[in-house]
Amino acid sequence: TFEVELSTTGTTVSVGPDESILECVRSIVPGVPASCEEGFCGTCEVRILAGQAEHRDQILTQAEQDANETMFICVSRAKSPRLVLDL
Ligand code: FES
Repeated sequence: TFEVELSTTGTTVSVGPDESILECVRSIVPGVPASCEEGFCGTCEVRILAGQAEHRDQILTQAEQDANETMFICVSRAKSPRLVLDL
């Protein structure tokens, strides 16, 4: 379990082991864009403002993953206890 803070609202959601960040964010921002929900289309891309992502998508290169600037919230998770996202 880790926490995700949505920077525009300041709201924090808790993401459990069996749910995605996308699912949790949708409870606060119902219209958050997504399509494939499997980590390959790129629709759900979100900027990372703080924290370390655990990338599980098929899109980013290793260098882009290491840059930790953006993530795909349908599949990717967090390595750090807390992520702050540009949402
Ligand atoms: Fe397609 Fe996340 S919805 S990559």
